[in-house]
Amino acid sequence: MIGDKKVLFSGMQATGNLTLGNYLGALKNWVSLCDEYECFYSVVDLHSITVRQDPAELRQRARKLLTLYIAAGLDPKKNCLYYQSHVSGHAELAWILNCFTYMGELNRMTQFKDKSAKHADNINAGLFTYPVLMAADILLYQADVVPVGKDQLQHLEITRDIAQRFNAIYGDVFTIPEPYLGKTGAKIMSLQEPDKKMSKSDENANASVYLMDDPDTVMRKFKRAVTDSEGCVRYCEEQPGIRNLIDIYGACTGKTSAEIEKEFEGKGYGDFKMAVGESVVAILKPLQERFAELEKDKGYLDGIIKENAEKAEYYALKTLRKVQKKVGFPERAR
Ligand code: TRP
Repeated sequence: MIGDKKVLFSGMQATGNLTLGNYLGALKNWVSLCDEYECFYSVVDLHSITVRQDPAELRQRARKLLTLYIAAGLDPKKNCLYYQSHVSGHAELAWILNCFTYMGELNRMTQFKDKSAKHADNINAGLFTYPVLMAADILLYQADVVPVGKDQLQHLEITRDIAQRFNAIYGDVFTIPEPYLGKTGAKIMSLQEPDKKMSKSDENANASVYLMDDPDTVMRKFKRAVTDSEGCVRYCEEQPGIRNLIDIYGACTGKTSAEIEKEFEGKGYGDFKMAVGESVVAILKPLQERFAELEKDKGYLDGIIKENAEKAEYYALKTLRKVQKKVGFPERAR
């Protein structure tokens, strides 16, 4: 708890470009969470270097991501938006937690297996202990809830195991985090293969709408979106393509699927796709304008980044000092 609020922590990697799916499915819904939770959103650059990165590009993408979060509506005075690398406590706690994590546990992590298959030439120890660093992220802020996708649930589970193990030895040091199960956004699927989630790493550029796509590109992608064969705008199992477009249109306009079916009664897919495209352009426009403004205002952003790193560090150090004492490190003279 911080004050009378529960703590929410989430980390994001600055890889790839954020998609409409990231926005409608997650980001947009995070904006109001700060009323209920003390929110920390970290750009996890320590995690990023478990695979090779171009340094200049990593730095640039990380800053872009932070900027985009603010542009999307996360108020940096109410949410702690910061770089993981600015708070050294993450790495320090990760080291300690490494000593409370078993090789066997880490060996079972499916993401490690997937990633080592994908990067067979660089199976480094960081990739192996990635989940421990993630546990450190979460436990450092005594987070109560963590909004994560399905692919990260196993990492949250190991975080809980590590925390419980530590607490069993040293008393109640860590809050045991839960997955955040509150209101989540629409699940947006690929525009080309609507049985697959829209992904920022999709190789087919037409499958995903990126938050920085210009209006022409957005419209073109929706024109090319895969539809179905019934020829009518109806929300049903048999029409995964149309269902996805209805979900997108609904998320952008606030209309229900019943209202949308009615609106397009007797109209073809063509008209509908245009309307969906336009609704997306309409929500991306203010976001992109705000992004451009923020990018120009270097001083403002730098100030936010510094302020938030200090705030994060304050809470991180509180936990870290406690943990260091528990495991037997000598206190520093003041
Ligand atoms: N591993 C997460 C991902 O790839 C990112 C992450 C790092 C994270 N630390 C975290 C997510 C802590 C939630 C909480 O998506």
